[in-house]
Amino acid sequence: MQIEKLRKDTPGCQHVLHFNNGGAALSPLPVINAIKEHIDLESMIGGYEAAKIAQIKSEKIYDSAARLINCNREEIAFLDSATRAWDMAFYSFKFNKGDCILTAMSEYASNYLAFLHKAKHTGVTIEVIRNDAYGQLDIEDLQNKINKRVKLIAITHVPTQGGLVNPAEEVGKIAKEMKIPYILDTTQSIGQIPIDVEKIGCDFLCATGRKYLRGPRGTGFLYARKEIIPQCDPPFIDLHSAKWVDDNDYVLNPTAKRFETWEQNIAAKIGLGTAIDYALELSMPVIWERIQYLATRLRDELTNIPSIELRDLGQKKCGIVTFTCKERSVEKIQHYLAEMKMNVSISLQEYARLDMSKRNLPALIRASVHYYNTEKEIENFCLAIKSMLAN
Ligand SMILES: Cc1ncc(COP(=O)(O)O)c(C=O)c1O
Repeated sequence: MQIEKLRKDTPGCQHVLHFNNGGAALSPLPVINAIKEHIDLESMIGGYEAAKIAQIKSEKIYDSAARLINCNREEIAFLDSATRAWDMAFYSFKFNKGDCILTAMSEYASNYLAFLHKAKHTGVTIEVIRNDAYGQLDIEDLQNKINKRVKLIAITHVPTQGGLVNPAEEVGKIAKEMKIPYILDTTQSIGQIPIDVEKIGCDFLCATGRKYLRGPRGTGFLYARKEIIPQCDPPFIDLHSAKWVDDNDYVLNPTAKRFETWEQNIAAKIGLGTAIDYALELSMPVIWERIQYLATRLRDELTNIPSIELRDLGQKKCGIVTFTCKERSVEKIQHYLAEMKMNVSISLQEYARLDMSKRNLPALIRASVHYYNTEKEIENFCLAIKSMLAN
């Protein structure tokens, strides 16, 4: 990878040391310019008129996202967040009392809250798959928990609170064999790990734009397998997701567009499409290799700082590096680093309660690297932590 060139293409690199790619990555110029261009057009000729002119550009996102995860464009819905994408899939399911949802220890708060919401209203039960010795979802336990009551498997690929990569493909094999619908949350993995829905075997996948894809905020997409779309009754519909064909009748859009809304942020949609193309151009396997290299290097250097404790679980680890420090609170660490223009984020227990409460962790520092970060930045970051501890 031509790192210097890529950094020049990323204005933020000149201002901050950005290890908050798991929060929102720095967008590259083509993405920023595509968004600005469309906003300018809207301001000059009107929003509807601009959308018409930019239709080919804004429609491209379906092809780009489909290429990214190896599916058809009709299986992609554009939404304004990963949460809304996930919700549109999850709330399409009808659960009855006694049905069961299987999930994992590392599940994200918003997803688990939706399980609890459904449980409250329908009596569906939630079962949590144990972790294996590495701290990732235990495939054997998943297999043992499968029975006739299980109506859904919903797990997170890479959790919000660490570098763990759950074995999504192995889960997919079991889901397929047992004919159980499978929702995969790839919010934290999309754009850093190559994802192929055919290999994984999930029926739904949700993704966000702003994280490792380097797209704009307020964007996301849903993948829905074409065989499952006709069975899906979305929780809300409008004149875009459905057609009002008779005074008392409607038909749902036959594609994944049945999960979309009519109103969309066209500039952001174009921006996300551009961001996906940018990643594809660089090649996902190359991106993934570079991220793993930098994250390993960061973990190795942090290991040498005595009071830092690394907190990442899993056999295979990604670009999200989490740690705590015996001598400083996470807030103090984040504040100290921010003063030095170094960005990290904090993961609180309430973001992933099952996992973090079991590990007795109220909060973590999350330093998430992207391919445009450098060895020098890692060195400076660790020096900053050492100097903070020395004072
Ligand atoms: C695992 C996981 N899922 C979902 C989300 C929510 O994504 P969005 O803010 O795009 O809805 C996050 C956000 O950090 C996350 O970490």
